[in-house]
Amino acid sequence: MTILDEPVRLSVALGDRAYPILIGSGLLERAGTWIAPLLKGRTRVVAITDSNVGPLHLPRLVAGLSASGITVESVTVPAGEGSKSWDGIATLVDRLLELRVDRGTLLLALGGGVIGDLVGFAASITMRGVDFVQIPTTLLAQVDSSVGGKTGINTKAGKNLVGTFYQPRLVLADLDCLATLPVRERRSGYAEIVKHCVISDADMFAWLESGGGQAVIAGDTAALALAVKHSCETKAAIVAADEREGGQRALLNFGHTFGHALEAETGFSDRLYHGEAVAIGMVQAMDLSVSLGLCSAADRARLVAHLTACGLPVDQSACGGPFDPARLVAHMRLDKKAKAGELTFVVCTGLGSSAVRDGVPEASVLPILTVR
Ligand code: NAD
Ligand code: GLY
Repeated sequence: MTILDEPVRLSVALGDRAYPILIGSGLLERAGTWIAPLLKGRTRVVAITDSNVGPLHLPRLVAGLSASGITVESVTVPAGEGSKSWDGIATLVDRLLELRVDRGTLLLALGGGVIGDLVGFAASITMRGVDFVQIPTTLLAQVDSSVGGKTGINTKAGKNLVGTFYQPRLVLADLDCLATLPVRERRSGYAEIVKHCVISDADMFAWLESGGGQAVIAGDTAALALAVKHSCETKAAIVAADEREGGQRALLNFGHTFGHALEAETGFSDRLYHGEAVAIGMVQAMDLSVSLGLCSAADRARLVAHLTACGLPVDQSACGGPFDPARLVAHMRLDKKAKAGELTFVVCTGLGSSAVRDGVPEASVLPILTVR
């Protein structure tokens, strides 16, 4: 028996809304084991997936649920960020109502962060709230978006500006799903693993540096299990302490204010994946931290070396930059963390440690944006 025959079990400690995170291999084939107890005697679920993930992984999930006598109705939405929209949510909720979901229906979100955010939002508003399970199939979703209860869609005004905090009943992270994930997507998700180490765990960062990171990107199951567990533990602890981002949850946004501005400037397109933007953004956040005297140039150099070794971009030239610094700052002022237009950043206070800095003057940021 390997450690992965039995899934690793973590918990997000949110009182009567606490839920388990299961991480392991072959979980879809056994999904009924963990989902049946959530059904309170019912035998039907609705699984929502996207047009890439459905053909690859829905049959395994359906088989795993059938083995426990559960029937599955499925809804497939077009793959891609476009589904996280007013049109996308309206179409999905209308379809759920056509399927006659009621307050006891359980929804399953089988897919990456787009499906998780969309289905979580739909679950939170349909019948004023139905239960849902996150079954993340990208590395990004397994280490970040499936945990913590942020749901939502994008609108004309920007990304993720409409949504709810709505926790799932269970997160089922089957590492086998990652075998079909394109390597660029795997690298992009890996950036969030690095982020969790930079903000709170220097030892784990050293493990990534010493070959762990390369193994994760190569798809080594044991390395993936360790890294996904570490990220979920880190995020679960922060969410349990600050579910609605009144304080320390903001640390999870390390690299995101800079990164988000680059995503906006590149039109949230395939030119720059989210994790790639976070990688560049983390280096810029490190530059800011060094310039504010909060961390050493040696720490910055370690981060740059590791991201580079893992094939992640570290400066704006990777996505057609440098861009106009004034435009980047304008994007940053629209960030959800900005208060009254003031710039707020998560800074690194030495590898493995971080803090939120409010009221950072534009003059401290512009030089960082000018250099590539
Ligand atoms: P995604 O869901 O669009 O998935 C990326 C691509 O991979 C898609 O084309 C998808 O169809 C495909 N795919 C998914 N699983 C696959 C698999 N196993 N094999 C082959 N292809 C697969 O994107 P993502 O990177 O997972 O998530 C990005 C979204 O997550 C963004 O909308 C972002 O805003 C959101 N997000 C949310 C949170 C949160 O806390 N809620 C955190 C971070 C990101
Ligand atoms: N991805 C940041 C958060 O969930 O808070």
